[in-house]
Amino acid sequence: MLVFDVGIIKCLCCILFAGGKSVVQIMINVRHDERKMKDTCHLYKDLAWLWPMWGDAATEYSHYCQHVSGLIRQYAKRPVATLLDIGCGGGKNVLNLNQDFDITGLDLSPTMLEQAKELNPDCVFVQGDMRTFRLGQAFDAVLMDDAISHMNCRADFVAAFNTAYAHLNPGGVMIATPDVTIETFQQNKTTTTPATQDGLDVVFVENVYDPDPADEQYETTILYLIRDHGCLRVETEHWTMGLFSLDTWRRVLRETGFEVHEGRYNAGEDEYTVFACVKI
Ligand SMILES: C[S@@+](CC[C@H](N)C(=O)[O-])C[C@H]1O[C@@H](n2cnc3c(N)ncnc32)[C@H](O)[C@@H]1O
Repeated sequence: MLVFDVGIIKCLCCILFAGGKSVVQIMINVRHDERKMKDTCHLYKDLAWLWPMWGDAATEYSHYCQHVSGLIRQYAKRPVATLLDIGCGGGKNVLNLNQDFDITGLDLSPTMLEQAKELNPDCVFVQGDMRTFRLGQAFDAVLMDDAISHMNCRADFVAAFNTAYAHLNPGGVMIATPDVTIETFQQNKTTTTPATQDGLDVVFVENVYDPDPADEQYETTILYLIRDHGCLRVETEHWTMGLFSLDTWRRVLRETGFEVHEGRYNAGEDEYTVFACVKI
C-alpha cells in the first residue's frame, strides 16, 4: 500500500489547481525554461574589439545621421546645440553627428565607451544605465537608436523614455528609431555580414527568432566566425530583445509626455519608422 505524507498531497493539490494550470503544463514550462539559452554580452565586453568591423562608421552610418540631423532641425522649438546619444555604443553615430552638435554619449559598457572616446576624442562620454541614470543636465536633442532594442520588457522600455524626457530641454527633440516592431519583424531572418581587416576575416551571422508571439520579446542569436590568418575561432551570442507594436511605441511616447511625429527612413532594402518627439 502507498502511504503519502499529507503535506505532499496538499502540495500536489495546490500545484494541480494553481492558476488553472495542469501539472503537465507546469512541467512543460519548467522544461522550456531549462532549455532557454542564457543571455550573453560578448559584443559589449570581451568581443567589443569586433564592433568596429561590423559596419563602417564613416560610411554606413552617415546617411541615417543626416536624416536624424534634419528631423531635429525640422521639429525643434528651440535652437539646438547639444545632443545626448543614449546607448552610444562604439560611437559610430556620434562620429557622424559630431559636426552638427556638441555631443555627450552614454552607455552601460565601459569597453564600448573606450571605443567611442577613441573615435571621438573631443566628445564627452559617461557610463550609465538608460533605465535609471540622471546626469543632472539637459540637452537640446536626444538620440535613442539601436540600443533601445535591449529594453526587453515594458517597464524597462518605459523607463528608458522617461530618462530621455528627463534629459531634454523644453522644445527639444528626441529621435527614436525602432530596429523592428511587431509589424516589421521577420521570423527566423538570418543576415550574414563578412568583414576583413589586418589579417582577420570575420563573418557575423545574425538570426532573429520569436519563440512566443504572445509576449513582447524576441531572440537575437549571433555566430562570430573569426579567422585570424586563417585560424578559425567560433563564438556565439544570445540576447533577449524587446518587440513592441507600433501602437505601443506611439502610446508609450505620448504617455511619457512627448508630442509625437512619425516618419519613414529608407535604408536600401529596409525601411524604418522614425519617431521625432518634442518635449513641450
Ligand atoms: C548596438 S550597440 C550601439 C551602437 C551605436 N549605435 C554606435 O553608434 O556604435 C548597443 C549598445 O547598447 C548598450 N546598452 C545595452 N543596454 C543598455 C542600458 N541599459 N543602458 C545603456 N546602454 C545600454 C550596449 O552596451 C551597447 O553598447
